Amino acid sequence: MELTGKTAFITGGASGIGLAFARQCAGYGATVLLADIEDAALQAAASGLRDMGAKVGTYRLDVSDRVNYEAVVDAVIVEYGAPYLLFNNAGVAWKAPASIATPSDWEWLVKVNILGLGYGISLIVPKMVDAGVGGYVVNTGSISGLLTPVGTASVYAMTKHAVVAISEALAHELRGCGIHVAVVCPGQVATNIINSDRNLASGVAGASISQAGPEERAFSSSMVARGLSPDEVAIRTFKALEERRTYVITHPEYKDDIIVRHRQIENAITGAPETDVDLLALVKSMITLEPLT
Ligand SMILES: NC(=O)c1ccc[n+]([C@@H]2O[C@H](COP(=O)([O-])OP(=O)(O)OC[C@H]3O[C@@H](n4cnc5c(N)ncnc54)[C@H](O)[C@@H]3O)[C@@H](O)[C@H]2O)c1
Repeated sequence: MELTGKTAFITGGASGIGLAFARQCAGYGATVLLADIEDAALQAAASGLRDMGAKVGTYRLDVSDRVNYEAVVDAVIVEYGAPYLLFNNAGVAWKAPASIATPSDWEWLVKVNILGLGYGISLIVPKMVDAGVGGYVVNTGSISGLLTPVGTASVYAMTKHAVVAISEALAHELRGCGIHVAVVCPGQVATNIINSDRNLASGVAGASISQAGPEERAFSSSMVARGLSPDEVAIRTFKALEERRTYVITHPEYKDDIIVRHRQIENAITGAPETDVDLLALVKSMITLEPLT
């Protein structure tokens, strides 16, 4: 992909998958604009990218803060014009089962993962459309937006189902403008996501976030650490963008889980019975988010 002279705006660009997207964009010649809530990580990420010869801008941004987001977009437009690539990537994950999640868990996950993405779309996409040169909107969803982890990260999964839904709609709406929309749905990726509570969004009371016990946190950390590297996720994403795909499935090992879920829905339409085996498989895969074997 040739991106010389183009600009990429990446939320959550200071770490993990967002930073890997930035490295890919920079490798293809784009100017990268990193936006993140975590200032020290932002500066460290920018310095690493500059070392590889990239042109970089940084913006301290809490995606869930509309006033902050509006000011950042105004500054970006003045300095760089409308971005050619928009990565709505910032996100937080938390193991908050639906039945015991606190109101603050709901607020935090919805504010960052849904509202933050909504601000990105509503504040930036119209500028991209007006620029009239096409481009890309890449939303970071999750495999949890295509499956539902029952009893674990249920509220998180709900936010990622929302990311998938809005991406599907936006893909159709923007097709005529030459703006390609994709939703990236990774399984485990070795990032700092387990420590999402290092950054609480504005207005979310830290004390009322449900607390993960040390054992649970260690288990989740070990699962994520065994995940794909963020750079591999970015490479697979750019391959999918070149193929103009809407769904970016970086972890094909979840294929059977997705087929089982869809089969249950089809059975409900056709009247076929739900089989115990299928239900068991569905629940098993959703609890652990490990692929079916
Ligand atoms: N790591 C995984 O296993 C995995 C799997 C599927 C999807 N995802 C998704 O990938 C995306 C990136 O996460 P990651 O895994 O790279 O984790 P990460 O924690 O390494 O990176 C997330 C980045 O988002 C930033 N951020 C958090 N809250 C913010 C806010 N309110 N405003 C602006 N920036 C904020 C963080 O500072 C961090 O730099 C998220 O949307 C996440 O849900 C991750």
